[in-house]
Amino acid sequence: MKHLVKITLFFFLLIGCKTNQKTNVKARGLMTQKAMVVSAREEASKIGSDILKKGGNAFDAMAATELALAVSFPYAGNLGGGGFMVYRKANGEIGAIDYREKAPLSATKNMFLDGNGNVIPGKSTLGAMAIGVPGTVAGVFAVHEKLGSLPMLDILKPVIELAYKGVVVTKKQESRIKHYQPFFRKVNKDSIIFDKLWKENDTIKYPALAKTLERLLEHGKDGFYKGETARTLAKFIQDNGGIITEDDLAKYEAKWRTPIVFQYDDLKIISMSPPSSGGVSLGQIMKMIEPYDLHTFGHNSVKSIQVITEAERRAYADRSYFLGDPDFVDIPVETLLSKSYLTKRMDGFSFEKPTSSNDIAHGTIQIVESDETTHYSIIDQFGNAISATTTINGAYGSKLYCSDLGFFLNNEMDDFSSKPGVPNMFGVTGGEANSIAPQKRMLSSMTPTIVEKNGKLLMSVGTPGGSTIITSVLQTILNVHEFNMTMQEAVDAPRFHHQWLPDEIQMEVKGFDINTINQLRKLGYVINEKESPVIGKVDGILVLKDESLEGGADYRGDDTAVGF
Ligand code: DON
Repeated sequence: MKHLVKITLFFFLLIGCKTNQKTNVKARGLMTQKAMVVSAREEASKIGSDILKKGGNAFDAMAATELALAVSFPYAGNLGGGGFMVYRKANGEIGAIDYREKAPLSATKNMFLDGNGNVIPGKSTLGAMAIGVPGTVAGVFAVHEKLGSLPMLDILKPVIELAYKGVVVTKKQESRIKHYQPFFRKVNKDSIIFDKLWKENDTIKYPALAKTLERLLEHGKDGFYKGETARTLAKFIQDNGGIITEDDLAKYEAKWRTPIVFQYDDLKIISMSPPSSGGVSLGQIMKMIEPYDLHTFGHNSVKSIQVITEAERRAYADRSYFLGDPDFVDIPVETLLSKSYLTKRMDGFSFEKPTSSNDIAHGTIQIVESDETTHYSIIDQFGNAISATTTINGAYGSKLYCSDLGFFLNNEMDDFSSKPGVPNMFGVTGGEANSIAPQKRMLSSMTPTIVEKNGKLLMSVGTPGGSTIITSVLQTILNVHEFNMTMQEAVDAPRFHHQWLPDEIQMEVKGFDINTINQLRKLGYVINEKESPVIGKVDGILVLKDESLEGGADYRGDDTAVGF
């Protein structure tokens, strides 16, 4: 029923968007005066918001929301995965943290290839070999230690209570669990909690996860990376044929990084730096489209789609060649984002016909060489903002569930390039820069982003969606900036995506004008409408002129804004 209401609401919004031009009535998301958390589950948003109400800041709320998502949203929220966070403090200071998974110490470049050098299907996506060393707990503790203000007890208490009390199954969750059950059975030796036929409104309790969280309360970060949890986890992974050891866990550390910052018109965009491609690729696309007047072309018009598609094609070609873990490869970030390079990159663009991806390779740069996710946004009552995206990669990660500890393990090893030129589960190809090496972080597309306008905080935004993350974040920012949408309209608007290879535009086709699709086809663009995919689940918060906040929670998921 709730599902029906949301679908009806969406179509109402679509019609609303059209009538807007005449009536100027705007569809708005949740409005609050002081603070807000938007995440994939109401329970997590509420726990985060309650922490703010208690006097905590955005960083306390980040820790609480991230951990609450591990309980309430096992599809992507996690203790067994990793993520990235970008922040902007009320005083304008910015920063970023990388709590991305790492390849285990005994990982090798060709670990997913057979004797003939071919990729072994499923080895990097299902089961224990697919797991990267998890980073989430290290990330949460690093953020809290440096920037938090409340005791960890205040943050963990409601999360542990939620795990004991249980979480109510939503309609969408019911169908997701059902869909993935064959994989759970295939991968896990013993039956797991998700093998049961869970129905909407049932409550799933997580006592084992609660115990794991209690060990964080007792021992901090070491309660995960050392001692009982680490022993249990390493043994479990190895018993299932994996290679992660206690040493791998003990050595894991989150890393503070300098965010990628660039200008687009009068906006300052602050986004995630490598090992995520998010900030660099977003920056390249935005700088390539900046000279064109998208506002005049119109939202999702043929011309706007052409310009954006061609910029995306070029940026994704660069992504696959130049980007990887900066601790292992030199990335020419400054050149990749420079005006002269990007102007040259758009040479050959024409409104007459598409550029063929076969004619596009990575740009020529002299380099000194030695190569199912969830997002949440928080703005606190003090003016601090965070944008965080966290993942176990695929839906329920590797599908391997450690019942003794109460969580799924990631399949992030698939984000490495198993073999140059062979696409991963998101269809993106990678090169030497993203090849596997011990302790290396795999390239990501996660794009947690904060936007400033005229020196003031404007937006916190991000999304899941694998390789489509970058382009969904792009369109959401453009929807507000170029097309004057509200935050909720910007999130709800239908999206499209091009990633160089395959040479096609993915589209949420049902949301697009059929004439637009036909005209693009006539020009020579291939539109992928085999099925109408959902592209991303964007969550964001917009600061309005009067400094009140508007939440945009994506109707495509169970996403919810909570605030005060
Ligand atoms: O880091 C990345 O880019 C991927 N592991 C993200 C996966 C993802 O977004 C899955 N959700 N739909």
